[in-house]
Formats: sequence, structure tokens, C-alpha cells
Amino acid sequence: MMLAIPGVLQGSTLDHVRALLRDAEWIDGNATSGHQSALAKKNRQLPEDSPAAREAGNIILDALGATPLFIAGALPLKVFPPLFNSYGEGDGFGTHVDNAIRIKRGSDFRIRSDLSATLFLTDPADYDGGELVVQDTLGTHAVKLAAGDMILYPASSLHHVTPVTRGERVCSFFWIQSMVRDDGARQQLFELDSAIQTIAADRGQDDAAIIRLTGVYHNLLRRWADA
Ligand code: NI
Repeated sequence: MMLAIPGVLQGSTLDHVRALLRDAEWIDGNATSGHQSALAKKNRQLPEDSPAAREAGNIILDALGATPLFIAGALPLKVFPPLFNSYGEGDGFGTHVDNAIRIKRGSDFRIRSDLSATLFLTDPADYDGGELVVQDTLGTHAVKLAAGDMILYPASSLHHVTPVTRGERVCSFFWIQSMVRDDGARQQLFELDSAIQTIAADRGQDDAAIIRLTGVYHNLLRRWADA
């Protein structure tokens, strides 16, 4: 499942994150690549432990925790501390698959990457190219979102970033280990949750059928989740 999540960062929070990144020191993006992706990648990245990456990353983690659509769609167990990359003119990232296990350098933090996330931080009018292109079982999807918006997609998918031909594209990217490992099961839970919320808006949370459906949701989650 691919899920666009609008407005993860907004207003002064978005401005603050962008200002942190503007003033930060960037390094060659291959510092964090696995072997296969290092062959295909050309961009810059913030060092994982740089003060700017940590501060901006914590702002994003807080924002994710306050975004119900992210919680419902990802059912997150663990979120990798957000990383940041920048693609200038001529930069891009060829087709690759993300590593299954991500380990935070210098720590014992490790996750299985079930979902990949890209949070766009540059206004799309300010650059050309730089689309995130994701191949899944339904075809090929090119994604370029407004600054502050985020796309969630299966980490198992082949994907690439098309070359930037004008301007600079700055994004945050990271991975999520979901409580529900199976993408199809997670998608059904999301559909059920979304439908319950829609009906509950008309009938109220205390409607008898809504209570039963909510029970079904939680009992499926109990059956499928690792927490
Ligand atoms: Ni990737």
C-alpha cells in the first residue's frame, strides 16, 4: 500500500526544519548506503549524528506521533531516526531496494524496515525532476508532494529518484517497523479503521454496530500485531 500523508509538517514547524537544514553541513550520500545502492546513488546527506539532523529528526518524530493518518496507516512499532538528503542538479538515485534491517550506527537500535517514508521539504515549484518512482504490484507510481507532505510505501518495493534537472530537492527519509508485518493485513486494518471512522462520524462512536466493528478491528489487530 502507498499512502500519502498531507501536512505532517506545517507552518512555523516546517520553516524551522528547513532553516536547520539550510545551515547544516552536508556530506556525500553514500555514507549510509548498502553496497548495492551505493552503486546507484548520487546525492548529499546530513551526517546521522549531526546536531541539525537530530533536532530536525526529533521534530519529525513528534509530528508523526501527532498525525492520526500515519498511526492508522503504518501501525508503527519502531521508527528509525529520520535522515535527510539533498539532490542538486544532476543528482539522482537509481533503482534499488532498501535494506531489510537498519541499524543505527553506534547504538543497539535496529529495525526491520517494513515501510519506507519520504517527507518532502522543498516546494515542488522550486525544482524539476526528483520524482520518487515506486514499483509495486499495481504498476509504477511517480510521487512528488508539497513541502511538509509524506509518502509511505512498502520497503520491499523497487524504487528510484529521477535526476533533478533544476533547483534542489531536500527530503527526510526513514523506515518504520510496523506492529503488523504483512502489508496486506496492514492495509485491511487501515481500510476497516477508515470505514469505521466514516460511519462513526454519522452515527456516533456509541452506536451499537460501531462498537462491534471497533471490536473486530481490535481483535484482528490483537491477532496480527507484534507489540
Ligand atoms: Ni530507497
